[in-house]
Amino acid sequence: MQWELGFDGLTVGREGHVHQHLLIEGGKIARIVDAGQGLPQTAGHETIDAGGKLVTAGLIDMHVHLREPGFEHKETIATGTRSAAKGGFTTIACMPNTRPVIDTVSTVKYVLDKAAGEGVVRVLPYGCITKNELGRELTDFATLKEAGAIGFTDDGVGVQSAQMMKDAMALAASLGLPIVAHCEDNTLVEGAPVTDGAFARKHGLKGIPNESEAIHVGRDILLAEATGVHYHVCHVSTEQSVRLIRQAKRLGLQVTAEVCPHHLILSDEDIPGLDANWKMNPPLRTPRDVQAVIEGIEDGTIDIVVTDHAPHAAEEKAKGMQLAPFGIVGFETAFPLLYTKFVRTGRWSLRFLIERMTEKPADVFGLPYGRLEEGAAADIAIIDLETERAVQPETFLSKSKNTPFGGWMLYGWPVLTMFGGKVVWAE
Ligand code: DOR
Ligand code: ZN
Ligand code: ZN
Repeated sequence: MQWELGFDGLTVGREGHVHQHLLIEGGKIARIVDAGQGLPQTAGHETIDAGGKLVTAGLIDMHVHLREPGFEHKETIATGTRSAAKGGFTTIACMPNTRPVIDTVSTVKYVLDKAAGEGVVRVLPYGCITKNELGRELTDFATLKEAGAIGFTDDGVGVQSAQMMKDAMALAASLGLPIVAHCEDNTLVEGAPVTDGAFARKHGLKGIPNESEAIHVGRDILLAEATGVHYHVCHVSTEQSVRLIRQAKRLGLQVTAEVCPHHLILSDEDIPGLDANWKMNPPLRTPRDVQAVIEGIEDGTIDIVVTDHAPHAAEEKAKGMQLAPFGIVGFETAFPLLYTKFVRTGRWSLRFLIERMTEKPADVFGLPYGRLEEGAAADIAIIDLETERAVQPETFLSKSKNTPFGGWMLYGWPVLTMFGGKVVWAE
């Protein structure tokens, strides 16, 4: 089957409106022609009219939790990939903190097989750094890579031992894969549910200090320098981490970093009360940290945006701020949030945002996706930039609805997502 996409919108890499037609054949973008040149003469094609909407390469999210195997009451690969598609994402990289964790060839294969059978977008699995994410013994990196792992991470917990991290980096470097680090020193956290700041003081809660993140960032940058690994910092949330990563980049180290929409938009002072839909790890930090991560992404210290989509069931989140698990869902609000708060306000160009959700994640991880070009996979999102709508968690395709953004009025809603030439979500 052939599809032709005719659109009148903005394309990444160009300023202003560009009228173009995409001809899609065999799951790929076969041709891109300017509308002025007339339609290519091809019989039997169907046309999707994207008039006036943004047509972009499908978004890429390099940090997500799909919960399968083991936590299917929170999310499955089937529901998680549909939620991703609804958010405009066509490539997602899933974290290995499932049950069992993804620390063997057979568990990597399980995720890939499930994704091929039941998923609707591309799923790239990470493998664990340590067995069971316990921090005691490295996994077998070489066989995990062979099975399809695209990098190594113990996301959900920090690797506490510097020696363990150094060994992991040396091994990952020899295989040419990145270490993707959840930075958290447990000795500084001790069960605190929110950041050390105004909200914690007001409610008499223990606070998570910024140093618990930044100490790992600083330690790991030194270890990355010693081992030559590609070191990628997960969900940067503090001023101190931004400063350390900025310095590492100036030194020319292969250090990259990601930030989540919630850390760019919310501070601890926005938390309305003891509602665990505002609880995630790293926590919402102070307004000063929010400014620092915004400056970090704007000056290139932070490379990409990820959601850290972390679904949890309503009963789990109902346990309250202290006891509920950390995490919020992210796929179905990420683009509208950033578009509304940073592009519509005139602070960022549309191109700046799209790059950080398509080309740059592809480049950071060496993936052949994220660009609208002839010969590329037909992974495409069509986004309505003009209609304002409320975030309605009850309509999420994710199994879980744990978001602090319910009721927010946003622009930038994806209306159609195509993966490999197939429409996987349409309004
Ligand atoms: O908020 C979070 N949720 N942070 C993590 O580190 C883990 C994640 C999860 O798995 O729920
Ligand atoms: Zn994490
Ligand atoms: Zn995570």
